Amino acid sequence: MSIEGSPILDTGEAQLSEDDFQRIARIAKAGWGLNLDPAKKPLIRSRLGRRLKALNLTEFKAYCAVIETGDATESEHFVSALTTNVTHFYRELHHFEMVEDELAKGLAARAKAGERLRIWSAGCSSGQEPYSLAASLIAVLPDAARYDVKILATDIDLGVLKTAQAGRYEAKTAAFPTPQLKDRVFDPGQDPDARDINVRPGLKKLITFRRLNLVQPWPFAGQFQIVMCRNVAIYFDKATQKTLWERFSDILAPDGLLFIGHSERIPNPPEIGLNPVGITSYRKTIAKN
Ligand SMILES: C[S@@+](CC[C@H](N)C(=O)[O-])C[C@H]1O[C@@H](n2cnc3c(N)ncnc32)[C@H](O)[C@@H]1O
Repeated sequence: MSIEGSPILDTGEAQLSEDDFQRIARIAKAGWGLNLDPAKKPLIRSRLGRRLKALNLTEFKAYCAVIETGDATESEHFVSALTTNVTHFYRELHHFEMVEDELAKGLAARAKAGERLRIWSAGCSSGQEPYSLAASLIAVLPDAARYDVKILATDIDLGVLKTAQAGRYEAKTAAFPTPQLKDRVFDPGQDPDARDINVRPGLKKLITFRRLNLVQPWPFAGQFQIVMCRNVAIYFDKATQKTLWERFSDILAPDGLLFIGHSERIPNPPEIGLNPVGITSYRKTIAKN
């Protein structure tokens, strides 16, 4: 079967024609830099199909029209449906070991001496990444809150940011590489039978959560000593990725560190003033050409 000569997928309710898919892909790229893989069409159809149901729509064409009018709430759902929020505490442990090393080798002492220290978790999802960063920070600099030290945690998705801000997680899903790392984030004194556990209040104090679309202008100018943007750029097309890496390089302080996702790569790091210093880790060393 086809609509206007395009092959269609049968959803059981709404059908996603090739034309509709292309339109959705154009909207996703223009608004959020997202690159929709045609191979993921069935997944996209199923996830957005739920939105059609929620809005009582029977056609993807009508749904596209809602998004194109700029409906803020539906745009949220649209991006959420097209991306995944999967994350873990201390994901890619080697990155956090490098962060701690960096803090121990100088950043912590400089913060104690009054220097500004800024860390950014860009695309923080439900908060496991910034809380892990905060726990690493406190492991090296226990009285970090006394100094000009802050972690910025941003995501486009207000739903995950709400969870992040609450700092409350289902005990059975809060997995960690080691029990010691878990104790850094959650006080072991909490009720062992409780369904949910709370992150240590001291970690929360170090983090500011904000909504931010990474492909739009960033409302801050200061430099960051450490930026983590992991498993986010993977959704973006190559041109959007390239611009993003350049913008991170621009916002990094001299010698600052950038960490990216395990399946992401910066094609020619020196060209944008970055040098590889480990697995998916880069240091800002030289001025951009
Ligand atoms: C797979 S999670 C990664 C979480 C964490 N960084 C990690 O690696 O564990 C990807 C996150 O990127 C966010 N995201 C996707 N597109 C974005 C955009 N244009 N701006 C900001 N965040 C975005 C999603 O909402 C999602 O929470």
